[in-house]
Amino acid sequence: MSSTHAILVTGGAGFIGSHVVRRLVRRYPTYKIVNYDALTYAGNLDNLTDISSASNYAFEKGDINDMDHVVRTLHKHNINGIIHLAAESHVDRSIEDPLSFVRTNVLGTTSMLEAFRRYRKDTGIEGKFYHVSTDEVYGELGDTGYFTEKTPYSPRSPYSASKASSDHFVRAYHATYGLPVVISNCSNNYGPNQFPEKLIPLMIHNIRKGIPLPVYGEGANIRDWLYVEDHAEAIDLIYHEGRPGETYNIGGDSEWKNIDLVRTLCKLMDEKTGRLLGSSEELIHFVKDRAGHDHRYAIDFSKLKNELGWTPAADFIEGLSKTIDWYLANDAWVERVTDGSYKEYYERQYGEK
Ligand code: NAD
Ligand code: DAU
Repeated sequence: MSSTHAILVTGGAGFIGSHVVRRLVRRYPTYKIVNYDALTYAGNLDNLTDISSASNYAFEKGDINDMDHVVRTLHKHNINGIIHLAAESHVDRSIEDPLSFVRTNVLGTTSMLEAFRRYRKDTGIEGKFYHVSTDEVYGELGDTGYFTEKTPYSPRSPYSASKASSDHFVRAYHATYGLPVVISNCSNNYGPNQFPEKLIPLMIHNIRKGIPLPVYGEGANIRDWLYVEDHAEAIDLIYHEGRPGETYNIGGDSEWKNIDLVRTLCKLMDEKTGRLLGSSEELIHFVKDRAGHDHRYAIDFSKLKNELGWTPAADFIEGLSKTIDWYLANDAWVERVTDGSYKEYYERQYGEK
């Protein structure tokens, strides 16, 4: 058995996963970081070209539902712990096709838990199973209040119901089999490499192309935004120092009403592209609301702050500005991911290309 600490990161080719993998590969040269990803429409190895030849990095293509392959991969790399991010992650797609969310998020997570339980039994390895989850499991808030770790679960979309269910299975493996698990529930992330189906990259993409900006309902819904590298830092900390059996909320302390956020994006894009100030705002187009659209999310992350000393570092406008710069500088990436199936999705979701 090798003495190197080896972590299997599932979903490492996706948006948040790629930032987590990059951070771990750079920060822990003596670890081995294994990225296990099925490379669905949301997974893209181009997100990791800068670290893909690092000697402490390996990629394994595989499905989290393929338990035998997961167990073989755990043995092959002498894995000590798992950071589980692989999931179907987009609410609108869950409304269109809920069963694929049950398959990946519920069955896939349970399959990962079972694979790790069997592997630990065979090898005696004591490592942790860290499940990365979402604040959406708590449901929606009115105009006041915050989600704490004690807020009762009340998911309202097929996506959040599937994530809530996976959280329950993770806790059940802790209670029933003593598996050392830890869970974090995080608010909305933004930053480089986010697939342009999510609000911020979708709006940047459409402003760039001069096509309508589809704001759901009246744009009055509120989200709490966290820069993705701050999330990756919290995940690193919780993996190493989070107490087994515990849950930690992660938030950005940065609540924005959707319409205010879209207007801010328009202004920043006008400035950066040298367009007439106000011209991008004319693209705003109010469209049919999302079914069951949660009104507001806001996170109380005082447990993480008090126990592990984490707070978000990025200022929202600076983070947004860096994010826009990344998209403007990475045309080839955007073109590749918005080709083919993206166009079909866009047409189904918004009725236009
Ligand atoms: P993403 O959609 O960008 O990436 C998901 C990754 O999982 C992709 O690389 C995909 O190929 C992989 N994947 C999907 N199904 C798989 C399967 N069956 N087997 C193996 N790999 C598979 O997602 P994201 O936005 O980076 O989110 C990552 C995790 O963080 C998810 O669990 C999500 O619920 C959670 N989360 C996301 C946010 C957010 O704002 N994006 C906030 C809180 C929590
Ligand atoms: O809160 C954490 C969650 O944040 C994560 O668990 C999810 O994986 C992630 O997708 C995100 O979910 P949201 O549904 O909040 O994110 P999305 O970017 O899809 O939408 C943000 C808000 O913008 C939401 O109120 C819906 C609105 N919206 C979204 C799109 C795509 C629009 O008005 N128009 C759009 O075209």
